[in-house]
Amino acid sequence: MVKKNAGIIGIGAYLPDKILTNADLEKIVDTSDEWIVSRSGIRKRHIADANEATSDLAAHAASKAIKDAQLNPGDIDMVIVATITPDMMIPSTATRVQGKIKATHACAFDIEAACSGFVYGLAIAKSFVLNGEMRNIVVIGAEILTRYVDWNDRTMCVLFGDGAGAVVVSTVDAERGLLGFHLGADGNTPRKWLMLPGSGSFNGSVPVSEDRKDFMTMDGKAIFKFGVSILPNIINKALIQSHLTSNDIKLIVPHQANIRIIESAAKRLGLGMEKFYVNIDQRANTSAASIPIAMSDAKNEGKLQNGDTIVLAGFGAGLTWASIALVL
Ligand code: ACO
Repeated sequence: MVKKNAGIIGIGAYLPDKILTNADLEKIVDTSDEWIVSRSGIRKRHIADANEATSDLAAHAASKAIKDAQLNPGDIDMVIVATITPDMMIPSTATRVQGKIKATHACAFDIEAACSGFVYGLAIAKSFVLNGEMRNIVVIGAEILTRYVDWNDRTMCVLFGDGAGAVVVSTVDAERGLLGFHLGADGNTPRKWLMLPGSGSFNGSVPVSEDRKDFMTMDGKAIFKFGVSILPNIINKALIQSHLTSNDIKLIVPHQANIRIIESAAKRLGLGMEKFYVNIDQRANTSAASIPIAMSDAKNEGKLQNGDTIVLAGFGAGLTWASIALVL
């Protein structure tokens, strides 16, 4: 019997048309292009239109990935949307996407694992395809984070952007595909390190004033410290799980949270920055969408080609973290 694997056969991304530059932000809050670039690496971010929902961004990205895979929406068996900014609490964003892209045979559900969600989705898709229960799965990361930042809070509003990225996971030849992965979480860390109470069921024990509960709040320093230690750690874990070394890797596509976190990971791993794909300057932090958007950008720039061995690594609220190695 010919051995097979589960792998990525299509990639797509969608970024809203509107762009907000650091110069634009200088007119909104007391900040400067110099501060934003030097502290985060961000130069601009895309902002969703008022009439766009997360499922709209996700559906555009998914349609592009399905086309790139040379499939039709009717070929899709499962739609997974990783997001922390769903259209609504009920129904799931994935069901809206399933309807919008006309994937009429597909089941659909959301994953909430913050910036790690897309890689969690890939690990789930790998299992379903490998065990033969699903043929083609669309895994999407999609966010409209700019709708949940306080535009008077300079510590938050400069950091985030909107967008969506998607891949199709299907059966591929054994020498390609998704390899070892590592998923993790630590729910004992303070919730206030990164939270958005919104209309969730939890009320009371974390004091959040009424006017703050619909905004994302973050302890930037705590998350920075976490990012600096977890990112190199999970890149190594994906390599070990896949019996690879960094010499085997063409590109590492990390979650785009802060250029200084990526530079620190490169240093700790003893690798040059050329091994890391970076687009935070153009896209800002798009949480669950950041890794698939980066994959799409890297592919369009010719930095990622079929047959390349790469590592994806994300970390974020929860806390959560996730990494996976793959041959494209
Ligand atoms: N413009 C100008 N000054 C600012 C701004 C701004 N936009 N924001 C903060 N400052 C000021 C602060 O008020 C502070 O001033 P002070 O010293 O007078 O008090 C000073 O700049 C330094 O602020 P810090 O918070 O210490 O800046 P830091 O170097 O820590 O950078 C940042 C902040 C960029 C948020 C960083 O901590 C970071 O990137 N953290 C990690 C974020 C992250 O990785 N998130 C990932 C998860 S996202 C998710 O899951 C959705």
